[in-house]
Amino acid sequence: MTKRDFIKEVLVTHEEIVAFCKTLASNLESTFDEKDEIVLLCVLKGSLPFMAELLKHFTRSDIVCEFLRASSYEGQSTESKGIVDISCNTLDVIEGRNIVILEDILDTGRTLQAVRDYLAAKGAKTIKIATLVDKPERRVVNIKADYIGFTIPDHFVVGFGLDFDEKYRNLQDIIIPYPEKL
Ligand code: IMP
Ligand code: MG
Repeated sequence: MTKRDFIKEVLVTHEEIVAFCKTLASNLESTFDEKDEIVLLCVLKGSLPFMAELLKHFTRSDIVCEFLRASSYEGQSTESKGIVDISCNTLDVIEGRNIVILEDILDTGRTLQAVRDYLAAKGAKTIKIATLVDKPERRVVNIKADYIGFTIPDHFVVGFGLDFDEKYRNLQDIIIPYPEKL
């Protein structure tokens, strides 16, 4: 039998995530003119399932996918270190482009602030932020997402891209775990 005893509570179901992605794709399509390019920027690794689900729901077929690695958590930790490292950027040309940053979770806000400032410094035309999960209570910098899937209280969560020590990203729901059972 599949081991699921680490699940304390299912916070967001897969169906709710799919519904949000559907709405987000439609919102993005109405925000940008048909002639305007839309670049989805997946913040690795946690936003990969989010990007993959979102891509299914566009009616236009010219969405550009790019990837960037940003990390503020290291190893077996549930606390942010406050250091953001931006690396592995596949987006060669940033200047003049409409970029939608896809983030798994907005926690302290340091990661997104660093990514946003980096794109702004390189001359992006528009920068929108879409986060699957928002934990506003934890914010230490002034940043807000343009699109928020699910606002949650200050819980450590895993699933649908969100990890603990690189694991549990493949869970289809977002769950609160029993930390001692991870
Ligand atoms: P921030 O820079 O503090 O906003 O942190 C953002 C990053 O921290 C996310 O992209 C996640 O990788 C990680 N993170 C924050 N909260 C959680 C959580 O509850 N579960 C798993 N990862 C988290
Ligand atoms: Mg992480």
